[in-house]
Amino acid sequence: MSDKLRLDKAVAHNYDVSRTVAAALIRQGRIRVNDEIITDAATKILLTDTIAFDEYEQQAEQGFAKRYFMLNKPAGMVCADRDRDLPIVLNLFYEQNHAEQLHCVGRLDQDTTGLLIVTDDGDFIHKVTSPKQQIPKVYQASVALPLKEHDIVLFARGLKHPDEKKRYAPAQLELLSERQAQVTVTEGRYHEVKRLFECIDNQVLELKRVQIGLLRLDEDLEEGEYRPLSAQEVQLIMQDNA
Ligand code: URA
Repeated sequence: MSDKLRLDKAVAHNYDVSRTVAAALIRQGRIRVNDEIITDAATKILLTDTIAFDEYEQQAEQGFAKRYFMLNKPAGMVCADRDRDLPIVLNLFYEQNHAEQLHCVGRLDQDTTGLLIVTDDGDFIHKVTSPKQQIPKVYQASVALPLKEHDIVLFARGLKHPDEKKRYAPAQLELLSERQAQVTVTEGRYHEVKRLFECIDNQVLELKRVQIGLLRLDEDLEEGEYRPLSAQEVQLIMQDNA
């Protein structure tokens, strides 16, 4: 039997992540082998070599450190602790110890995909989801009808939905193509992005969250995959460009 194995395979096994995520962590220079940063995923290592992933080590040293994960949420799953009829995103975390202590930070609709934070830090969930914080959240939307330059002005003014009393806070709309746009909102109201497009007589067909604060969705994560966040990445969630 060979006593050597590929680094990406070893990292995937040690840290319960897919080979794609393992390769990304290696490329980003976050994995050390015998205290040396190795950035080539195909490197062959010995079974006796020590692998270290900084964030995991720091957390282990702190003992009861909280856990934070970035998930690329797939469509068809709900952000709830339990549901009688539908699969919950937390089921994806079955390999984590104490998975029952993990919760979603805020909610994405069943059909929305993209960036979702999952953690066991209740204070953090409270802070990030509080409307007072006004943390910007960035979405990419595909819509049914062609968008107009003037829609940017309407979003920026703050829209009023015919079925709701309270106006929506100003939102930033950026046109990506005829029927695709990027929307930045800070309020976090129920179905906010879908409602905003209803206000201009349009309809969201697909919705993906790509950023919270200054934290971007890691494009190396396939839908349904997750990876741990570094301490620096957790900080980015609470920051904006202002
Ligand atoms: N706005 C929506 O309409 N849906 C989401 O899932 C998130 C924001």
